[in-house]
Order: sequence, then structure tokens, then C-alpha cells
Amino acid sequence: MKAYEQLLLENKAWSKEMRDEDPNYFKRLTDIQQPEFLWIGCSDSRVPPNQITQTQPGEIFIHRNVANLVIHTDLNLLSVLQYAVEVLKVKHIVVCGHYNCGGVKAAMTNNSYGIINKWLRHIKDTYRLYQAEIDALPEEDRANRLIEINVREQVYNLAKTSIIQRSWLNKNMPDLHGWVYDLSDGIIKPLLELNPGSKLDHHIYEYANLNDVIE
Ligand code: CO
Repeated sequence: MKAYEQLLLENKAWSKEMRDEDPNYFKRLTDIQQPEFLWIGCSDSRVPPNQITQTQPGEIFIHRNVANLVIHTDLNLLSVLQYAVEVLKVKHIVVCGHYNCGGVKAAMTNNSYGIINKWLRHIKDTYRLYQAEIDALPEEDRANRLIEINVREQVYNLAKTSIIQRSWLNKNMPDLHGWVYDLSDGIIKPLLELNPGSKLDHHIYEYANLNDVIE
């Protein structure tokens, strides 16, 4: 049997198992999607959001990319964010990085990797801002420190969007969380939380006419 055929076979077995346990399982999921969480995580195959949080289909709205970046021109992420905030009305958004992230480690080298250079460039920009703090650490700790700093930057990047700022102003939600997952023991460490009304890292990012402009 080919590897991909195994996936399809496992899928059939899973579907049967779920229906045996609860005949209405899929009917309920089809009728409504009401997740409380948006998860923005790394594409890394070792960090599957539902598995590491023991959540079920329907509980977490998920967006993943290399090194869990929130880029303000990324229409993919912004579309997910707008839908999650304005339609699903999620109460919490989690940016979850992970130690030993290959994307962050690649960004800390001088190697060119092709088109992904353009993506990793955002991590290099963050490294430049925090270089003194990172380079003061022993070499083996530097990547993991940048991984934590990167999570914090992405949480602030969320708060810099008009989508989040308008929701904070009008609905007093969602809370933004920055977490980091440890591949070596499976534990998630919370790093920071921004709640509606939290100050940003510079006032220039705070929009004053949020309800006048519809984008
Ligand atoms: Co990663």
C-alpha cells in the first residue's frame, strides 16, 4: 500500500470510530462552527494544535505558516483574522511559536534559501531590533530567545491591525496570547497576553478613526 493510501484508510477508520461513539457527531459539526479560539502557529508538523491542546474539530480556527508570522500585508492571514474576529467572534487569539523552530534558525544564518528569504526577512528585522539582548546569551540559547521575541512581535503585530483595534473598541475582545511550545516535553509556556485596551509598543500604531473607515 502506498503511504497516501494509508491516510485515506485511516480516515475511514477514524470516521467510523467517531460515528460509533456518537452517531450525531458529524451532523452537529456540519450544522455549526463556533470556535472560541483562533490559533496562529508554525506549519511545523510536530506542532499540531488540536493534538497538543486535546481539542476537537470545531473548537479551534487555525492558521499556520512558517515561523508563525503575522505580516500586515499577508492577505491570507488577514482574511483568516477578519473572519475569525468579525464573523466567528473568537474570544481568544493564540500565537504559538515553538522552540527549535527551523524557520527562525534559518533566519539567523547568512544562507540564501530562495523564495523563503522574503518570508524569513521579517524575522531578520526582528533580530536586528533585539540583537544586543540575543547576542548577550550563550550561543546555544540565542535561537530560542529569538523564537520567544518573535512570538511577542507577532502578538503586537495583531494588535496593530485595524481589525483587532476596532474589535477591542466596539466589542472589548478578543484577548491576544503569545505562547511557545517545547518540542522536547510537549509543554506550552505562556509568554504574554494583550487584552482590549492594552498599550501598544508605540502610539503611532493606534488608529483614531476606527469606526469611520471600512476596509
Ligand atoms: Co517552526
